[in-house]
Amino acid sequence: MAMQKDFIVIGSGVAGLTFALKVCKFGSVGIITKDALEESATKYAQGGIASVMAEDDSFELHVQDTVETGRGLCHEDFVRIACREGPARIRELIDLGAQFDLRGTEFDLGKEGGHSKRRILHAHDLTGWEIEKTLIEAVHAVKNIEIFEHHMAIDLITKARLDDKIQPGSSDDEALGLYVLNHKTSQVETMVADVILLASGGAGKVYLYTSNPDTATGDGIAVAYRAGAKIANMEFFQFHPTCLFHPKAKSFLISETVRGEGGILCLENGDTFMENYHDLGCLAPRDVVARAIDYEMKKSGDDCVYLDVTHLEGYRIRERFPNIYKTCLEFGFDMSKERIPVVPAAHYMCGGLIVDANGQTNIKRLFSSGEVCFSGLHGANRLASNSLLEGLVLSHRAVDKAVSLFKESKNSQNQLEQIPAWDPGSAVDSDESVVVSHNWDEIRRLMWNYVGIVRSDKRLKRAERRIQLLLEEIQEYYWNFKITKDTLELRNIAITAQLIIQGALTRKESRGLHFNLDHLDTDDENWKRDNVSQDTARRLITPINPRIVTHE
Ligand code: SIN
Repeated sequence: MAMQKDFIVIGSGVAGLTFALKVCKFGSVGIITKDALEESATKYAQGGIASVMAEDDSFELHVQDTVETGRGLCHEDFVRIACREGPARIRELIDLGAQFDLRGTEFDLGKEGGHSKRRILHAHDLTGWEIEKTLIEAVHAVKNIEIFEHHMAIDLITKARLDDKIQPGSSDDEALGLYVLNHKTSQVETMVADVILLASGGAGKVYLYTSNPDTATGDGIAVAYRAGAKIANMEFFQFHPTCLFHPKAKSFLISETVRGEGGILCLENGDTFMENYHDLGCLAPRDVVARAIDYEMKKSGDDCVYLDVTHLEGYRIRERFPNIYKTCLEFGFDMSKERIPVVPAAHYMCGGLIVDANGQTNIKRLFSSGEVCFSGLHGANRLASNSLLEGLVLSHRAVDKAVSLFKESKNSQNQLEQIPAWDPGSAVDSDESVVVSHNWDEIRRLMWNYVGIVRSDKRLKRAERRIQLLLEEIQEYYWNFKITKDTLELRNIAITAQLIIQGALTRKESRGLHFNLDHLDTDDENWKRDNVSQDTARRLITPINPRIVTHE
């Protein structure tokens, strides 16, 4: 028996919870999240949320900084919307109970790379957690929202999947629901809804080193792509310049706001270097800083560079960055007295599922918001702390359209009855789980080595050949064995990796986060445009029922 909701939200970060809280006034909501409710990238956001709050700042300056950092690929119309609507959305968060740091009666605004003004609202260095816990409290306080923790979306059920005559992603296509794996029971459940919002976050786990939580496995991108949604600009993957270099630290992020408060990057011998790369020095946009560190590390052969904040007063460090200070101390570094070893790590997916300014994708009834989507805000390089802003603004804007779609034409009972229950076919328990762990590791390594901060055609071609083989093996494994969370995540990171590789191979230029040694120039004539992928040939649009098909 299918579970039916008016709205289904996939993901429980700022984008998903904001939407859920707003649409629950109009209908029932189910939130599907593959881990515990709070376990999203939002929880780990340190720096903050960028918005025009200071007297000496203006929307125009925020727009300019965003567009400049985005290297010609930002959609300026949406940049304007996000910058203008940001303050109202932040006030709503404050009304819900979120507390941002104050200096006297004014916000204590931080600074990060690429910003010409102080405009980063923060709650010490745990801003994401402040927002997440505020939204979670609000969600728990309403009756109309049901939370499905430890449930993972497998695939969307669309009209095109039920009817071969409908072209996936065409104007006749519609999202009807999804199959979901319940991790606790290992059963697959069918969920149907009038509107689905995909807000499942990013894909940092595609790379060997990442600041992202373990949940960031590109699930939303892969689910949407397999259903025929349009995806853009996956080659622009942002590497955060400063993650703690320690074998056990799992790339713990050292917020850019540390540099905003005067932190200086230097080499082992104490020499500074950022002044050689950009006028803004250590506060240059992230693509520049990450590439500079990568270059300096390759030149010196050192394993890391260093971030020095020892000139700041110890109490100020402990007060402003309590979490970073404490975590570094746990790993043996007292940042008030010594330099911290840092390296870049994969941090943010700037490409994603294409949406309009109201969060609508090319599949009717399917909306998207947050890191998984591509609204045009970030262009070829995201301006620091613009991501929480995007999630808040877009999820708010999606509400009107989503509610009117829900009201105007509810999925007919007839249609719902046609949705088949999940059929596991003759899939058996895997006796070869090593395939999953081996392929997972191979993908992350090949992405780091061949599709990282500095790319070349040769490296990308190598990556392309390997990912193709891996995808074939993973697909076969997927069809033959009972699905598990690990199998689903592996299939999703493989597809996301392939989209990043394809995007990088296609874009024959260097721009923002995509830097190719064989195409060093920025080619505005041919490439000042988005790089769109869609699986119209039904390559991955596999039949989902019965699940087992014969593969020769
Ligand atoms: C940071 O605190 O450096 C991360 C902020 C962001 O990625 O926007």
